[in-house]
Amino acid sequence: MNAPTTAAASDPVVSRPPFGSVLTSKMGSMSYQNGVWSAPEITAVGPIALSPAAHVLHYASTCFEGVKAYRFKDGSLNTFRLDRHIARMQQSARYLILPEPDPSMLKSLIHQAVDAVRSEVPDAPGALYIRPLLMGTQPNIGAAASPSNEAQLWVMTSPVWDYFAGGMKPLRIFVDDQNSRTASNLGMVKTGGNYAAALKPTLDARRDHKADQVLFCAGGFVQETGAANFLLIREGHILTRNLDASFLHGVTRDSVLTLARDLGFKVEERTFHVAEMLEWVKTGEAALSGTAAVLAGVGTLIHAGREYPVNNGEVGPQTQRLRSALVAIQQGESPDAHGWLKPV
Ligand SMILES: Cc1ncc(COP(=O)(O)O)c(C=O)c1O
Repeated sequence: MNAPTTAAASDPVVSRPPFGSVLTSKMGSMSYQNGVWSAPEITAVGPIALSPAAHVLHYASTCFEGVKAYRFKDGSLNTFRLDRHIARMQQSARYLILPEPDPSMLKSLIHQAVDAVRSEVPDAPGALYIRPLLMGTQPNIGAAASPSNEAQLWVMTSPVWDYFAGGMKPLRIFVDDQNSRTASNLGMVKTGGNYAAALKPTLDARRDHKADQVLFCAGGFVQETGAANFLLIREGHILTRNLDASFLHGVTRDSVLTLARDLGFKVEERTFHVAEMLEWVKTGEAALSGTAAVLAGVGTLIHAGREYPVNNGEVGPQTQRLRSALVAIQQGESPDAHGWLKPV
């Protein structure tokens, strides 16, 4: 069975399992019925009860988030930009016509779920990955064109290390200017269907080009990859797509751009074509940003049957510099000038 295993508090720390493959021992939940949310519950991680007619199983009424909490050297646990993730989850719920969790209620559920597994949070460079999940559970297989008025909210957590097997290995990225990652009205929504849409192009690119990820560039304009935002970087200058409704507005993207501005970089946010990107990487760097990926350097772009090395196939120095600046803040080793970390 491929379901994540759980690591009981007493287990020895499992040695760096693949990202997301191990859950902690407890999870939080609430349910929504007749217009009200139930009280939060913390239970052992295990199978959940769901009608086979549940709305989510047929009509994909589901959204989720991915947030990290870090254990500092003093033992304290701190979430990174949790309020932003909560606001994005509310936005996702709105777009999917799911009951929108109140921010203070969701924050409290997350805090309780994290508090329950405090002893299972790895030290740096590990972190606790927090995965809130909201889904429509109304049992009605005739509800394709009506929203679910029942829902369940879950918060599961996972001890994590590197997202990409190989750590800081430069990534191979397949540039896809044919497929779309999402339906046009769901680009900003963190919903399972978007990942389902990206899966086949990603597996095809892995098989045919040994690519780690696909960079979706519908109509020839650079957008994002299946699980991260995309940035072009060089000394003193970043170029990335401006925020529009076509892609997920990453919290890490915003954090990297903020730190880059602090460091004196010019940050350009606008649409740009694949041709401009291929020109940029003749001398510049490219990277993926995301909660899971942090800031991962690109070593190769693959487009129209050709390979384009980026920074001689190595993770670039500016990418490393920005990644280190971000990680130092997240791990409590540099001052948190923007107030991004909050204790649990
Ligand atoms: C499609 C997609 N884009 C971008 C991101 C990066 O978002 P964030 O930095 O908020 O994790 C993610 C990761 O959650 C993602 O799945």
